[in-house]
Amino acid sequence: MVKLTGLKKIKTAVFISGAGSNLKNLIKFSKIKNSPISIDLIFSNNSKAKGLRFSRQFKIKENVSSFKNPKVAETKILNILKKENIKFICLAGFMKVLSKDFIKKFSGRIINIHPSLLPKYKGLDTHMKAIKNRDKIAGCTVHFVTAKLDSGKIILRKEVKISKRDTPTSLAKKILKEEHKLYPAAIKKIFN
Ligand code: GRF
Repeated sequence: MVKLTGLKKIKTAVFISGAGSNLKNLIKFSKIKNSPISIDLIFSNNSKAKGLRFSRQFKIKENVSSFKNPKVAETKILNILKKENIKFICLAGFMKVLSKDFIKKFSGRIINIHPSLLPKYKGLDTHMKAIKNRDKIAGCTVHFVTAKLDSGKIILRKEVKISKRDTPTSLAKKILKEEHKLYPAAIKKIFN
């Protein structure tokens, strides 16, 4: 695990595929004086990801590589991560599965946010699954990324109540609000 050395912030890349609300929130967090991380690179597999606008807004380097050929894309990203001296990766709505080899190179240094109370509901459509199963509690989890999908060590979780009127969309909105608090809290927990 990377530890904070002196006053230097840990150079971090955020990987996204879509809206990027967690990305925006992490950028804001990174600018706080005692945040352990700085965000120095935004990567997306999707050139149309709305979240890419934050690289322009906050003047952060961005890179886009489609994952049509995952091996080629990963080799490209690894080179950029090395060049930019990135030490830590936050996945935030990144919809591609990284290879075992890639994860090994950043072992213990990649984390992800997932919209369920892991180990419940790995993978996609978590909000729909929780509602279909008439769960009373849903939530979100920040965890280390390992080769097994959504299965790495849990760093923090936050519960969110499901009301009778909730739809997958309304539940997703409620959980996302909590994600924005949980992700920075998990990063602080790792490094402090
Ligand atoms: C979040 O719900 C996150 O947990 C999941 O994908 C969503 C991304 O949202 N992995 P955003 O792009 O950060 O707004």
